[in-house]
Amino acid sequence: MNAGIIGTGHYVPEKVLTNFDLEKMVETNDEWIRTRTGIEERRIAEDHIDTSHMAYEAALSALKEANLSAEDLDMILVATVTPDTPFPSVACMLQDRLGAKKVAAMDLSAACSGFMYGIITAKQFIETGAYKNILVVGVEKLSKITDWTDRNTCVLFGDGAGAAVVGPVSDGKGILSFELGADGSGGKYLYQDKDYLSMNGREVFKFAVRQMPESSVNVVEKIGYNKEDVDYLIPHQANIRIMEAARERLGIPEEKMAMSVKKYGNTSAASIPIALSEGVKEGKIQEDDLVVLVGFGGGLTWGAVALKWGK
Ligand code: UT7
Repeated sequence: MNAGIIGTGHYVPEKVLTNFDLEKMVETNDEWIRTRTGIEERRIAEDHIDTSHMAYEAALSALKEANLSAEDLDMILVATVTPDTPFPSVACMLQDRLGAKKVAAMDLSAACSGFMYGIITAKQFIETGAYKNILVVGVEKLSKITDWTDRNTCVLFGDGAGAAVVGPVSDGKGILSFELGADGSGGKYLYQDKDYLSMNGREVFKFAVRQMPESSVNVVEKIGYNKEDVDYLIPHQANIRIMEAARERLGIPEEKMAMSVKKYGNTSAASIPIALSEGVKEGKIQEDDLVVLVGFGGGLTWGAVALKWGK
């Protein structure tokens, strides 16, 4: 039994914060942010829109695309480092709000790699035959742990949610290979310090430009394809320069890479599923396409999958 992605959805809050707005808040400018990161604007959730709210909206849309109702779910996994409260988990809040029977529900903590950890975990339950349909959500309200006086970090992040239903698909389709990893010795480069996110940007950058291209190539070669066979690449949307490193290593043209960092910034665990959902809705991902999803983040953590699109 192969596991694949059978429905996608996303939600971003309405409020837009542009680079020009940030110029009025900290010592920065639009040109620096655009050339160093590729970001032009990001979405910020108002106070009353919490992580569980965004997760719910994205989940509804993914269920709709999968043609399933909440009652068809066997498990809910939510990847987030910004839950409404430490517990109960966002996954439990979602289970209740969706009315998803009394299915298993838990949050996963792997920072920006969280969605990758989520879908690869879901794949194991499906391929052993234990469960059929698993909802995986990547969601963050990073604005609540952002220090809005620190120009090193506040220009980078945004809020949002992306979701996927992982379920059984036919032979030759779905998630064909994966890679997951962690290096806790690099935890000091990206962490939450009391209230706020803190980062050594240069160290995370060095790690990411090495790891993302390597993992992307690994998952493709594991299944006997050439790297140029990749039809669509969805790298974690953190920084355009890091994403370009992965694209160049695969040797694929610009139009084959998702690019939502411009309008949403880095939404951590939500970035890959948002870009995936947009890619599906915009027709950039077609039946039988070889799609690579690849992420990296705090932990340090990383994860990648190669999948054949379709049911
Ligand atoms: O999801 C994972 C999360 N993290 C990441 O993906 C972050 C990975 N790292 C990066 O994306 C990049 O390292 C940054 C975008 C954070 C920084 O870019 P950089 O090219 O590595 O710049 P830098 O840190 O080397 O800083 C260059 C200069 C510094 O000034 P000096 O020391 O050369 O005088 C900074 O103080 O740019 C300055 N700077 C800024 N200037 C204007 C730092 N932030 C800003 C800013 N506006 N917002």
